[in-house]
Amino acid sequence: MDVHLVELADHPGATEPEPFAGPDHPMRRLTRATAFGGPWTDEDAARVQKIFDGLAPTWSADHVDPTKNAPIADALDRGGVPVDADWLEVGSGTGAGARIVAPSVGSLVCCDLSAEMLRHAPDLAPRVRADASTLPFSDRSFDVVLLVNMLLFPAEVDRVLRSEGAVVWVNTLGDQTPIHLPPSDVIDALPGVWTGMTAAAGTGFWLTARRAF
Ligand SMILES: C[S@@+](CC[C@H](N)C(=O)[O-])C[C@H]1O[C@@H](n2cnc3c(N)ncnc32)[C@H](O)[C@@H]1O
Repeated sequence: MDVHLVELADHPGATEPEPFAGPDHPMRRLTRATAFGGPWTDEDAARVQKIFDGLAPTWSADHVDPTKNAPIADALDRGGVPVDADWLEVGSGTGAGARIVAPSVGSLVCCDLSAEMLRHAPDLAPRVRADASTLPFSDRSFDVVLLVNMLLFPAEVDRVLRSEGAVVWVNTLGDQTPIHLPPSDVIDALPGVWTGMTAAAGTGFWLTARRAF
């Protein structure tokens, strides 16, 4: 498919991530599989939930810092997404994304599969325990869906997003993020035709994508 993607200049201070998770990382394979229609079973959900329940107590200390936040903040600044609007963060974890966007956006709902990750998140927005493959929200209930280092379930993102809505995809370690897809693959995986804008920031990058009409 022809992917329409505009690359903006790097954010000041953008830098290459250290080697961390290459293409053979199991999370990388799972990320690609779920994005492109592979099965997501109850066993997958239980396994992923168990991993993140175990990581929750130390996650914020290891994953909330200005370098990792840079792509989220830069997407808000330069990504052309509606800010005074209804946002949903999927895979919100311990609130790395919420800490940045909650003070600026119109409304925010956070959801995650792991009750422990949610329990360790700050009380900045309603926190809903849910599997992103079957989100408990009505069709077209949000203007923006934010995913920071989170698996992409394209049909659900498309379903809950309003027609003029935007997807914000962030990988804080760029192509070394275990849950990684490059911007062109995110656009390709979403149902229908989308256009995107992307830039490097911190050690990662952001993509904002909108439906093409
Ligand atoms: C790599 S962590 C990222 C957390 C947070 N966004 C951050 O950047 O710190 C991935 C998060 O996605 C959640 N997650 C994984 N699969 C999920 C699913 N199917 N539905 C909802 N959340 C899921 C995990 O529980 C975990 O909190």
